[in-house]
Amino acid sequence: MLFKKNVVIPEYYEFFNSVKIISGYKALETIPFELSRLGAKRPIIITDKGVAQAGLIKHVVDSFSGTDTVIGAVFDETPQDSSNVVVNQIASIYRANNCDSIIAVGGGSAIDTAKGVNIVITENSDDLLKFMGNYRLNKPMKPFVVIPTTAGTGSEVTMVAVIANPEKNVKMAFTSDLLLPKFAVLDPRMTASMPPKITAATGMDALTHAVEAFIGTQKNPVSDAFAAAAMELIRDNIKTAVTDGGNKDVRLAMANAALLAGLAFSNSMVGIVHATAHATGGVCHVPHGIANSILLPFGLEFYIGKSPKTKEYIESLLLHVAGPEVYVQTPSVERAAKAVTAIRNITGELNKLCGLPVRLSEAGVTEDKLESIAKTALNDGALSFSPVEVSFEEALGVLKAAY
Ligand SMILES: NC(=O)c1ccc[n+]([C@@H]2O[C@H](COP(=O)([O-])OP(=O)(O)OC[C@H]3O[C@@H](n4cnc5c(N)ncnc54)[C@H](O)[C@@H]3O)[C@@H](O)[C@H]2O)c1
Ligand SMILES: [Fe+2]
Repeated sequence: MLFKKNVVIPEYYEFFNSVKIISGYKALETIPFELSRLGAKRPIIITDKGVAQAGLIKHVVDSFSGTDTVIGAVFDETPQDSSNVVVNQIASIYRANNCDSIIAVGGGSAIDTAKGVNIVITENSDDLLKFMGNYRLNKPMKPFVVIPTTAGTGSEVTMVAVIANPEKNVKMAFTSDLLLPKFAVLDPRMTASMPPKITAATGMDALTHAVEAFIGTQKNPVSDAFAAAAMELIRDNIKTAVTDGGNKDVRLAMANAALLAGLAFSNSMVGIVHATAHATGGVCHVPHGIANSILLPFGLEFYIGKSPKTKEYIESLLLHVAGPEVYVQTPSVERAAKAVTAIRNITGELNKLCGLPVRLSEAGVTEDKLESIAKTALNDGALSFSPVEVSFEEALGVLKAAY
């Protein structure tokens, strides 16, 4: 690797993203035009109860008034930690209503479910489980639009779907560039109703994506640029998004931050924080953003103790999570620890503002589950991209520290 200040140019890297991004205060109104350009006339809307009850589907349906596009079906029962069973059920509804395209309206749960439905429909199958893993898909997918209503997962621009397998109590990852939607629509009307704690948790998921992308084995100058911009937007906007949810500018900033972090991590991947967070979600049903928020500082401390190279990257993080003034004032030997402190300061303030948990014990995890979580984390795909190899004892150590 060549080094020049904070910019790392790997000997080889790839970066890919094909999603058209439409962001703005009237972004929803462009959907009918964009969809008709794809030849689609009968979309299914996939969402969940919370999003529907917040009145958000109406905004989307209204954007079609006066056009010849007909909403073929609306499925609003996507559960959190949605599963292959739900995906297969929605695929039947899609077929029964002769739909020809998919609009996901929601957070990661609805978006990833929609990605799963697209797999089952495109592959003309009845069971998602047959396609688990990396790059098992070959056919061009159905026209697919994503309207995120949380500012967190970045799933609107990621090549991955995370879907639960309730039989095995694990989260399965499906990865392919074919999963990318045709376009992602960021409109602050769609996130304004997000309650404070969900705003905080999903925002911390986005921060974790940016941080893990910035220190991961596949980091590259393109993912670094997106990750750095995401961290700075989150640093400057997450608290106001929690305290003043109706602030459209702040909501648009957070939506863009989550998207930027998604662009970064979809290419440079995540590591121990996501591996342990996925496992915490699988075993104890802790929401994804909350698990990441709790585990992020502890995962970084683990890396600092294990890898001088990763420690250097964490030192650079300080610039983005705390700002240039703090960075310049902090001696280089203290920068890595200070970056972790800066992140703890953010989660500490979110804890005061909306009760976001900072310990696993506050999030419904019991101590007897930690071993099972550690065991599950070792099989999580995210660990393949960790900059440091992680043993069972080490994963358990991180979990115990965070407990
Ligand atoms: N594919 C990826 O790249 C990726 C990345 C990270 C996480 N994930 C997955 O995403 C899922 C989590 O997604 P999430 O954190 O976005 O949460 P979520 O989709 O589970 O939503 C959380 C809750 O917020 C409510 N909600 C969402 N938007 C709202 C709004 N605007 N107003 C009112 N209520 C609203 C929902 O109804 C739900 O009850 C997990 O399954 C996780 O594994 C996927
Ligand atoms: Fe995540």
